[in-house]
Amino acid sequence: MATCKILFFLFLALYISCGKCDVFYKRVGDEVSMNCGAPSNSDTEWKFDNVLIFNVKGKTGAKLKGPSHIVLKASTNGENLKVSRLETRDSGNYICSYSGSVKQHNIYVVSVFAKPGPVLVQSSDAELHCDITGNSNTQVQWLRPPNGQKHNEKSQVIKLKSVTSKDAGQWTCQVKDALTLSVTLTVVDLQTTAVNVSEGDDTKLPCSLPQSVSQRVVGGKWKADHLSDVSFPTLKNTENKGLHWNGKDLSKVNFTTEQLSTKFDVTLKNVQHRDAGKFVCTVEFEGGASRSVEMTLTVFGKNSGAGEEAEIHAAASYSQRLLPMQKNESKNEVELDQGVRSLPGPRQEHYPCTRTAGPNHTTERSRAQDPEKTPPAGPVLLNVLLA
Ligand SMILES: *[C@@H]1O[C@H](CO)[C@@H](O)[C@H](O)[C@H]1NC(C)=O
Ligand SMILES: *[C@@H]1O[C@H](CO)[C@@H](O)[C@H](O)[C@H]1NC(C)=O
Ligand SMILES: *[C@@H]1O[C@H](CO)[C@@H](O)[C@H](O)[C@H]1NC(C)=O
Ligand SMILES: *[C@@H]1O[C@H](CO)[C@@H](O)[C@H](O)[C@H]1NC(C)=O
Repeated sequence: MATCKILFFLFLALYISCGKCDVFYKRVGDEVSMNCGAPSNSDTEWKFDNVLIFNVKGKTGAKLKGPSHIVLKASTNGENLKVSRLETRDSGNYICSYSGSVKQHNIYVVSVFAKPGPVLVQSSDAELHCDITGNSNTQVQWLRPPNGQKHNEKSQVIKLKSVTSKDAGQWTCQVKDALTLSVTLTVVDLQTTAVNVSEGDDTKLPCSLPQSVSQRVVGGKWKADHLSDVSFPTLKNTENKGLHWNGKDLSKVNFTTEQLSTKFDVTLKNVQHRDAGKFVCTVEFEGGASRSVEMTLTVFGKNSGAGEEAEIHAAASYSQRLLPMQKNESKNEVELDQGVRSLPGPRQEHYPCTRTAGPNHTTERSRAQDPEKTPPAGPVLLNVLLA
């Protein structure tokens, strides 16, 4: 009996390899329909990887369900077997037997994905998978961004080293001209901006990711070489608290105690002239990638001291002329700020509006040139008075 079985499977194995079988490549979630090819009214038996799915009596249509997990999502009329909501574990051999004959079907459920995920931090490593379950040696054709050029490597798993924006976009895997599947990669980097602040104020040091990435953040810090005595917090990621700032000394640098995801800002308190300079934000990611961005803090004084009436007067009148507008035209400030900055010395610092200049110079210029909205010669007036 046992010998019989062995012989039977040997026969099956030969039969499988000699290829009178239907091959299907399908996506996860797809449906597949297989045909037995049995004469009508034959008794049929469907098996998945040698485990019974259905046994169907040809005459009556009576169906016996087997123990295979496929039963739950399959339907049959004996002649056809339909399997829906395919998962990778449904890859394998489907055999229909009837009156001593067998018909073999090979189903390969293909899944495409990026490891560790589709949103990657700049310069990190990643893998693209086009996994053909149960058939990992079959070659595939990858098409890469930006325009679907053919990628040389034909294996199901390709490694991307130190990704850049050039790797971002749609990657497509072609399987045997039968199936194409895509995955879209996004590559992001840390962001920051320069900050202008008035002496004595608190200011945010900005550092963030534009969206959360597939790699876990495992560490990070802020650093300023010119402020070696200042205590900055460091990033910690623990099971209990998740990603958070870790630091004890809040006297100069304050930070949120809440869980962090994409924003790594800290607050620099009571900013002084000596604080002006470069600040570096570094974030480390699982897998070894680490990114740093540098921002520049510019500090404007609040008061230049006594004995300089001309300047004070100039700055005051300048401010008065502009104040009504600044309430709702804050974008003018950059233009004014630039005018003021061309002056020598700290006098300019009387001017109260250097703190919140907007980033859009184009808009600022065109506004500044509009005579209804802007005093035509603010900075010039100031220059003259100071001269
Ligand atoms: C730090 O910031 C939080 C919220 O922004 C504030 O409630 C807290 O008083 C600050 N701590 C110090 C020491 O400045
Ligand atoms: C700008 O300010 C003026 C005077 O303060 C006010 O009448 C006007 O409604 C404001 N415009 C906007 C857009 O806020
Ligand atoms: C800061 O001030 C400089 C000029 O002093 C200006 O060019 C720049 O746009 C300002 N930046 C911000 C963010 O306000
Ligand atoms: C800057 O202004 C220009 C012209 O008004 C506009 O097209 C552009 O979108 C603005 N950029 C930003 C960042 O606001």
